[in-house]
Amino acid sequence: MKSIIFVYILTITLFANNTKLCKTCHPIIYSEFQNSIHKKSSPKLDKVHNAVWSLHPLKKKDDYKCAKCHTPNGEENVNCFSCHTIKNIEKHQKTNTNIYEKKPKLFYSAQKGSEDKKLTYKKTSKFFGLIEDSEGSPYHDIDYTNKIFYDGSVCMGCHSHKQNSHKFTVCKTASSNEKKQNCITCHMPKVKGSATTIRQSATHAFHGFSGVINHHDKLKKYIELSYKKEADGFSITIKNKAPHDLLTHPLRVVKLITKLKRGTTTTELKTHTFVKILGKDNKPSMPWMADMILKNNMIKAKESRVIKFTQKLQKGDEIEATLGFFVVNPKAVKKLKLENEKELTKFTPLKRLHINISE
Ligand code: HEC
Ligand code: HEC
Ligand code: HEC
Ligand code: HEC
Ligand code: HEC
Repeated sequence: MKSIIFVYILTITLFANNTKLCKTCHPIIYSEFQNSIHKKSSPKLDKVHNAVWSLHPLKKKDDYKCAKCHTPNGEENVNCFSCHTIKNIEKHQKTNTNIYEKKPKLFYSAQKGSEDKKLTYKKTSKFFGLIEDSEGSPYHDIDYTNKIFYDGSVCMGCHSHKQNSHKFTVCKTASSNEKKQNCITCHMPKVKGSATTIRQSATHAFHGFSGVINHHDKLKKYIELSYKKEADGFSITIKNKAPHDLLTHPLRVVKLITKLKRGTTTTELKTHTFVKILGKDNKPSMPWMADMILKNNMIKAKESRVIKFTQKLQKGDEIEATLGFFVVNPKAVKKLKLENEKELTKFTPLKRLHINISE
């Protein structure tokens, strides 16, 4: 009896920790996930997270409160279980809480046309056993009826908001909760390749999670830059089609760099910077100390921001506008000791606009 219990517990723990098993039947999704930010969400694997955590007062007490969202399964990162076992989301003021399914080997997911289905593995045969087919996964049960997997709410246990100990909201991601367009449709678009090796599908939901750190090329189409001639110069409009601020993390900085080419000379026009800066005592501060917003001109959800330039343009001029970002605010790089991290501290272009002035 003892040994049966032992084996049972061993199997569950092995299963609970082993995402390598998923690779056997979901190799494409598994490999996309290896390069995603969720896979690197711990102090050990994410240099920015590590830099911020190193300065945090709780670090000395080794009280890693960030685990709730950064390493929810006690592993090194957000993993397959962290999302696919979320049963529902409890709303709280400080942060929301994911309520996880306790029944082992039961995964929630979404599939068009299966909204009312729960699948346990079934082998079926047709034509008197000549053709074998199967339904479900031989390894786990699937529940397609969980609505949060259809409207993007599944992301909101971790992504919705976070308050610090002063009851001050340090970050917030507005939710749209629309079935047609939500966190999942934009950040996990359907891409080519089968979701499983057992049942072939033409596409699967992208598990590389496009964002600032990775694959921002996939999100470009949700940002528009446009040019307009004005009476006293011209304007560039930045349109953010996302249901949340263009960038949400307070460490980020967005810039619009505009150049005017006339003949053989190129002049850089005024650079516009978009940030949300948290502070205390009217000075910039780390998020855990903050109790005020010092400045917030970040481009808001669904906003069209018009940026005016007073330069008079003439025929033959060229305008090049580049919208891009810094992962880490250049003003915080030194404090965070990230000076040698070129990738994290450089300017990354997100969207470009080139206009030839013809009149
Ligand atoms: C032995 C093969 C096998 C293993 C191992 C396996 N799966 Fe699956 N999984 C499948 C099959 C087959 C399906 C598709 C079932 C269907 O569509 O009828 C599936 C479907 C899924 C779905 C739902 C997909 C949808 O259609 O929306 C999720 C989520 C999932 N698996 C997650 C995982 C995770 C996480 C692991 C690792 C812990 C894992 N699977 C391990 C075979 C496997
Ligand atoms: C268990 C918590 C959790 C859940 C659930 C979750 N995330 Fe995340 N997500 C995180 C954490 C933590 C990070 C930051 C990782 C880091 O610091 O390296 C992150 C980062 C991201 C980023 C990258 C941001 C950037 O700056 O590049 C995107 C995009 C993202 N998540 C999208 C989603 C989507 C879409 C969903 C829902 C399908 C989701 N996440 C569900 C915890 C979660
Ligand atoms: C309520 C969930 C939650 C908690 C708790 C949480 N985070 Fe995060 N964190 C996130 C999410 C979600 C993201 C990605 C969102 C974004 O980029 O806007 C993130 C992103 C970050 C980033 C940016 C990562 C990068 O690669 O640029 C840092 C730094 C960070 N968190 C530090 C911390 C620290 C330190 C703690 C603990 C003191 C903590 N977080 C606790 C959810 C959380
Ligand atoms: C219409 C498409 C769209 C939808 C819907 C959408 N996003 Fe985004 N998201 C974007 C764009 C565009 C960016 C900015 C470009 C980039 O990060 O490369 C972005 C950036 C992010 C980032 C990175 C922010 C940062 O500061 O690092 C996170 C995290 C994120 N989105 C999470 C979510 C979550 C959670 C939801 C659902 C509530 C969601 N997004 C819904 C398009 C979308
Ligand atoms: C941050 C949350 C998150 C993580 C982490 C995550 N998934 Fe998913 N996954 C989702 C969501 C949401 C969907 C549903 C997408 C949709 O609308 O089809 C999904 C869909 C799937 C599907 C079905 C794909 C399709 O298009 O039919 C499979 C299979 C799957 N996931 C397996 C995995 C495996 C294996 C891992 C770990 C390597 C993993 N997931 C990690 C959120 C996540």
